[in-house]
Amino acid sequence: MLVEGPEKKTVSSAVATFADISVSAQDVVNCSYSQWYNKFSSYTYTKAEILRPVPIEFINYLLSDDIILPKDEQGSSLFQKVELNSDNEYSDWEEEEDDDADADADEDKDLSNKASPTSTFPSFHQKIKDAIQRLGGKVAPKLNWTSPQDATWMMMNNTMECHNATELYLLLKSSDYINHDIGHAFECVTEGPQNVPEGFEYELVLRKWFDINPSMEFRCFVRDRQLIAISPRDLNYYTFMKDFENEIVDKIDLFFDSVLLPKFDSNSFAFDVYIPKPLTTVYLVDVNPFARQTDSLLFSWNELATMKSDDDGPLFRKVEQANSGRFASRAHSQNQVPKEIVDASLDTEALVELAQGWDKMMKKEDGD
Ligand SMILES: Nc1ncnc2c1ncn2[C@@H]1O[C@H](COP(=O)(O)OP(=O)(O)OP(=O)(O)O)[C@@H](O)[C@H]1O
Ligand SMILES: [Mg+2]
Repeated sequence: MLVEGPEKKTVSSAVATFADISVSAQDVVNCSYSQWYNKFSSYTYTKAEILRPVPIEFINYLLSDDIILPKDEQGSSLFQKVELNSDNEYSDWEEEEDDDADADADEDKDLSNKASPTSTFPSFHQKIKDAIQRLGGKVAPKLNWTSPQDATWMMMNNTMECHNATELYLLLKSSDYINHDIGHAFECVTEGPQNVPEGFEYELVLRKWFDINPSMEFRCFVRDRQLIAISPRDLNYYTFMKDFENEIVDKIDLFFDSVLLPKFDSNSFAFDVYIPKPLTTVYLVDVNPFARQTDSLLFSWNELATMKSDDDGPLFRKVEQANSGRFASRAHSQNQVPKEIVDASLDTEALVELAQGWDKMMKKEDGD
């Protein structure tokens, strides 16, 4: 009897390829705040002041590792003087802690003897203070492209709302995103050199604060002058979204055709809009390069680069059901703790390793 062996199968190796996305330095420049704001300011929700040029001393201050803040802000919640009273006076420990208190006092003296960090950019510091006042005393800051959304945990109210220059400096200095804007914004350029173009200026943008409803913010992707896709920016599940999606798409499509397309200089870009209820007006929030460094939200960049554009209009994608596992974490929280902890939280073995490492380190410290 002839026994046939198992049929031989040809295994084709799967190779993942990433679609090329072409980005020029000019595309990145076109998304810098002042470049588009000057054309479209009447379509934004709130007033903004753009401070430029930003002195190199201010950039150096933002990049320096130490966080020394100016103390000249009246009423800053960061420097509230604590009055001693029976609730906060730890009288039992007072004697033991005398030495520590002396050392702290010396350190405080050292710090107050140090020149204020703003002494290297006094007139820019004053410009910032004046602009905050003109904008009603509450602003959301950003540099040319990026806002410090990853550093809101440093703020008393956990938002980007700043009431004075001191809070603004703390927020900007604590943000990796701001750091990226300064040193790496042109790294996504695929056509030509990735250097900061000659004559390009950094700018500090202060937007008058407003309370936004995050469920009504959308990111819209434009490829080769066609609006191809729309995603909500907030990836929580909103039951009302299905009832309004057609209206939202129509409004954005009209805004794109009549306002953005005729005046925006790049062929491909991603723009963010806010459409508060009752959905009568589309407001422009930001413009970003059509580049992998821009968050593609509910799409993948491969999809966006290769999807067929549909004459019937853009593809709207929404979150279809509550997904507590994927989206329960706060946005940008991955940038708020050391990377080792984020990695470990996704992998049990890594978590055990991290715990063992921590334990070892603590024992070593005890032994020292
Ligand atoms: N004036 C404002 N007042 C209050 N919140 C604001 C204001 N402007 C923007 N925001 C909020 O901050 C968020 C981030 O703003 P923006 O899109 O300009 O930052 P970004 O750094 O460019 O973000 P991304 O990296 O996603 O492109 C917005 O989605 C909006 O919710
Ligand atoms: Mg942006």
